Amino acid sequence: MSGNRDHDASRRYHEATRHSRESVRASSHGLDWSNKPEPFKIYPDLPVTPLPRDFPVPTMDALAAISGEVDAAAPLDLERLAALLFFSAGVTRRQTYPGGGVMYFRAAPSTGALFQTEVYVVAGGVTGLAAGVYHFSPGDFALRQLRAGDFRGALAIAAADEDLASRPAVLALTAIYWRNTWKYQARGYRHLFWDSGTMLANLLAAATALALPARAVAGFVDLEVNGLLAVDPEKEGALLLAPVGGPAGFAPSPPVIATIAPPVIPLSESEVDYPLLRDAYANSALDSEAEVMAWREAAWRSARPPAGVLVPLPTPRPSAGRPLADTILARGSTREFSGAAIGAEELSTALWHATRGGQADVPSGLVDLYLTVHAVEGIEPGAYAYHPAAHTLELLKRGDFRQEAAYLCLEQALGGMSSSTVFFLADLDVLLETYGNRGYRLANLEAGLIGGRLYLGAYAQRFGATGLTFYDRDVIAFFSPHAAGREAIFVTALGRSVKTSAHALLLNPSPPSGERAG
Ligand SMILES: Cc1cc2nc3c(=O)[nH]c(=O)nc-3n(C[C@H](O)[C@H](O)[C@H](O)COP(=O)(O)O)c2cc1C
Repeated sequence: MSGNRDHDASRRYHEATRHSRESVRASSHGLDWSNKPEPFKIYPDLPVTPLPRDFPVPTMDALAAISGEVDAAAPLDLERLAALLFFSAGVTRRQTYPGGGVMYFRAAPSTGALFQTEVYVVAGGVTGLAAGVYHFSPGDFALRQLRAGDFRGALAIAAADEDLASRPAVLALTAIYWRNTWKYQARGYRHLFWDSGTMLANLLAAATALALPARAVAGFVDLEVNGLLAVDPEKEGALLLAPVGGPAGFAPSPPVIATIAPPVIPLSESEVDYPLLRDAYANSALDSEAEVMAWREAAWRSARPPAGVLVPLPTPRPSAGRPLADTILARGSTREFSGAAIGAEELSTALWHATRGGQADVPSGLVDLYLTVHAVEGIEPGAYAYHPAAHTLELLKRGDFRQEAAYLCLEQALGGMSSSTVFFLADLDVLLETYGNRGYRLANLEAGLIGGRLYLGAYAQRFGATGLTFYDRDVIAFFSPHAAGREAIFVTALGRSVKTSAHALLLNPSPPSGERAG
């Protein structure tokens, strides 16, 4: 039996990594720019398969893609796979700074622009791609082959889900810890899931728009998946699997998984180890197929209905007239909100499409959405709880809470100048009881997924969004008594940007030719 059931471990982690006014002021952590991790994982010796740059562009309406489903699956070929990778994890913008530093911005947002989420492809039925295990290199838009052969069956065993062996490919999202802990130290564990969640939002929407069924699988034997991907388990861990494509016949029995350790270019001259983070990951690992199955069954028994006094929202728009590709390419985190209002229909639409759930091996609804409404036409300013099933807001208190909201978001003006700021909260006792420590992963992941969908829903409707961090306990105090007993998980602010930025969009990114971000 793994340590997943000892859920004091998640509590201890959560307590130890809370932000408060005092902890932020007392922190002596500075950023060592000379030791900043490289933005890309580079395997110098592996065979390269360049990805086609003339991939199909997902033109489906963005809102339909976020919350829709695939009726008739298209075959998964290398071009579609390239599109899926580009719109989930590709380099969409490049920014050069005085002094020559280059930042590679990506399709999905990521805490501190550190982009620690890596993508691997376990392919067996992709037209134009030999069966194998590949790492996706966003820098030169290529796949690098870690293993030759069809290993989908190994993932099906690790996830106790034979469906994975019948999909043409399974994407595996991992995180390289140091890339985030360089800035955020042990709190970065939370970010691993927020950021894989925002990437998952893009991935599921892009898959839908490309007529590829896809879903998220959060339950698997971590050790087996990490072994297959040949990641150094002290430094990088698998976070989730995403089978992609329509059913296409079962994979043969998987080949023996040899231990391999392909050389990787070091990210930094030296790395700092954060045992708190590694322990949080290890304590939420599942150790056997039987444990994965039991874990998943317990999850489905526990889905919770919403409750409360409800105030309806306007009917959400089914489409926004903006294709998904345009939406993803236009997306960027808003750096300054003007304070101007968005419409009630716009807020309603963003919330509705972001919270439709589904497409996962465990139920959604693990995080509760609380909002401060600052400037939404037709909705009184105040604090609210959102009920996704009934698609309604519950008024908690009336008032102009711009100042309070900015304070709650680590004293960042973005949190108060938004039109509305969405706080994700979770009842950790219930979650940890049901899912063990892996419930902590799930809550952060689901908040990241909904946050990522809010970004897409906002940009589809031509307003802005940004993820934000927060003072943990103050958030709960603000929304209490309603929120009493819950914990703060994540924040996304929505509103109108001061400027509509003209990003240099890189639909066909050229290789970074050895340049490294500063
Ligand atoms: C989970 C998450 C948390 C974030 N937290 C903050 C934050 O606290 N403050 C902030 O200014 N931006 C925050 N951001 C925005 C990131 O800095 C931004 O995504 C990153 O710089 C990449 O830029 P882009 O989103 O414009 O592509 C956050 C983004 C995400 C996805």
